[in-house]
Amino acid sequence: AGTGKFFVGGNWKCNGTNESIEKLVEELNSAKLEEDVDVVVSPPYLYISKVIGSLTKRIEVAAQNSWTGKGGAYTGEISADQLVDAGVKWVIQGHSERRHVIGETNAMIGTKSAYALSKGLGVIACVGEKLEDREADRTTDVVFEQLQAYADAVSDWSNIVVAYEPVWAIGTGKVASPQQAQEVHAAIRQWLKEKISPEVSSKTRIIYGGSVNGANSAELATQEDIDGFLVGGAALKGPEFATICNAVT
Ligand code: G3P
Repeated sequence: AGTGKFFVGGNWKCNGTNESIEKLVEELNSAKLEEDVDVVVSPPYLYISKVIGSLTKRIEVAAQNSWTGKGGAYTGEISADQLVDAGVKWVIQGHSERRHVIGETNAMIGTKSAYALSKGLGVIACVGEKLEDREADRTTDVVFEQLQAYADAVSDWSNIVVAYEPVWAIGTGKVASPQQAQEVHAAIRQWLKEKISPEVSSKTRIIYGGSVNGANSAELATQEDIDGFLVGGAALKGPEFATICNAVT
């Protein structure tokens, strides 16, 4: 950790019921969270209002996606305007599940991110290589291509947190080693310096996601360019998520 305030996001993905989400919010409300960490949770759309209404802690809410532009005849979509109206502060874009399961393209992700930023949302901009990319030594090629798609659409990076999530580490229990993660985070920081600006490079938080848990987060957090985490499975357990939030202290 080295850049800005440590940032931990809990991505609940398509998980939860009214009952389990009430329990999770209660756990978060009673957890001890350190002051010097930004904490964000990302429930499924349906539960966002309920979570915002019941969180008593300084925790902000992110959506897991948003539409490319303003609302209208787009069945099944949610616009950034509606997220803002509901009190949402952040949106995750370009998550690997949306890229590789739903089929979102780099260009679409850039467009959505730019629109969300224009409405005042912060964007958690995900990037990450598949196992086959890593094995073919194409990790940074893929990650830089994904970053370039954000850069093509977005001019102001001050409300962006970059999330590096190697696809092979997501939901697999196979966390990247601190060295593997640090290496890519440093490459992303260098890319930001060369392609965007030294200022954006030194101010943008780069967080890691992929099988982060209460046991491995402290060591990952010691790495210079790991400025937080995006947590999936372990974010569904309040006490463990709190441990991860406090990993840097
Ligand atoms: O967005 C977080 C994520 O994809 C990581 O999931 O379950 O490996 O922590 P998980």
